[in-house]
Amino acid sequence: MATLIKHVRIVNAHGSQEGDLLVRDGVFAKVGGSIAPCEGDDVIDGSGLCALPGLVDIHVHLRDPGQTRKEDILTGCEAAKAGGVTSLFCMPNTMPAVDTPDIVAYIKEKAATTGVKVYPITAITHGITGDGCCDYAALQAAGAAALSDDGRPVENDEMLLNALCEGQRLGLPVTCHCEDLKQAAGGKVHEAVAETLGVKGISSSSEYGDIDRTVRLAERVGAPVHICHVSTKESIDIIRQAKARGVKVTCETAPHYFVYTCEKVLSRDADYRMNPPLREEADRLAVIQGLLDGTIDAIATDHAPHTPEEKANFTAAPNGVVGMETSLAATFTFLRGKLSLEDIVKVMSYNPANIMGIEGGIIETGRTADFVLFDPEQTWTVNPERLHGKSRNAVFKGETLTGQVKATYCSGKLVFHV
Ligand code: DOR
Ligand code: ZN
Repeated sequence: MATLIKHVRIVNAHGSQEGDLLVRDGVFAKVGGSIAPCEGDDVIDGSGLCALPGLVDIHVHLRDPGQTRKEDILTGCEAAKAGGVTSLFCMPNTMPAVDTPDIVAYIKEKAATTGVKVYPITAITHGITGDGCCDYAALQAAGAAALSDDGRPVENDEMLLNALCEGQRLGLPVTCHCEDLKQAAGGKVHEAVAETLGVKGISSSSEYGDIDRTVRLAERVGAPVHICHVSTKESIDIIRQAKARGVKVTCETAPHYFVYTCEKVLSRDADYRMNPPLREEADRLAVIQGLLDGTIDAIATDHAPHTPEEKANFTAAPNGVVGMETSLAATFTFLRGKLSLEDIVKVMSYNPANIMGIEGGIIETGRTADFVLFDPEQTWTVNPERLHGKSRNAVFKGETLTGQVKATYCSGKLVFHV
């Protein structure tokens, strides 16, 4: 059986068209124009809707194995589908960390039934401790799709250089959480609001100083590197300059960094605490500028579930916010008039697929039919109790957003609808 969506706006990174979309045997069978239905086709009226390539979220914490009170692979994938995410890369800072082929196999097996394409990122160093490099070829053979010590920087230059070189040799992207731990240790919020709140601050330089080091190491060996969650104006300047020098650097930000500033944490609500933290207005504007001029290649969520109990105490709470169910609508709502829907597809689907070297990010005849039906007019209010993931630490809670994911299709199969 085939699915025929009539009168839909088909949006790709490099242009849109009005027309029909036919999906058969898990792939886009025909894209655009007027398509007559065949006997037995499931015909959907797509009037007023946009068909977008499924989102590719390259920074997700699924917490499985080991912290399944926060999230597990199945609930994380439900959240993904509700947010229009059809491919995701999960970070290895689980318990234990994803640093052996067995754990990679566990993730792949558990994810196999979800419909979502789950790509495991494996640790750069054993247990994400900085204590020696993992066996990347063995991890890749088990299904590792990229390397990261996310949650922590790789402090040792030799180890980071080894990962960059080995990653390049094996074709495994290396994604770096950049942070100077000597500066940032014990920090709770951005430095500008730390004194008011009576807690230790996290300086901008703890982020951009380590981005500078990371980019220079990549430059030295001519290897590609991807920088996670950039949040400061200086970070963006460093990456812009590195790109201009020809360094193979890409980077991502997350929606909260272009929507909010550190003013939000003055409420002492830990649902606005993440690492890196919400910064200042000049940083927020620089993030938007970075998206506009292409310095920032991707929007990822850094979906980081924590339980309500863990988030109850402002200073004791762990860092992180959930975001997969709100990322598209939040980006559409807050960047309207700046980024077109085509631009949004580029930074949330097309570019992330390219950075990670996977299929996806494009609606084209013959390609796997991972896509979203998005209603750009529908407004809705974010209610953490109605999220599909396990945790409730939604950074956009209470916001009324414009634009809603009406349906998500993975390999041609309807996996979510409102
Ligand atoms: O806010 C964050 N949460 N930043 C990180 O680097 C780690 C993540 C997590 O695992 O909760
Ligand atoms: Zn991180």
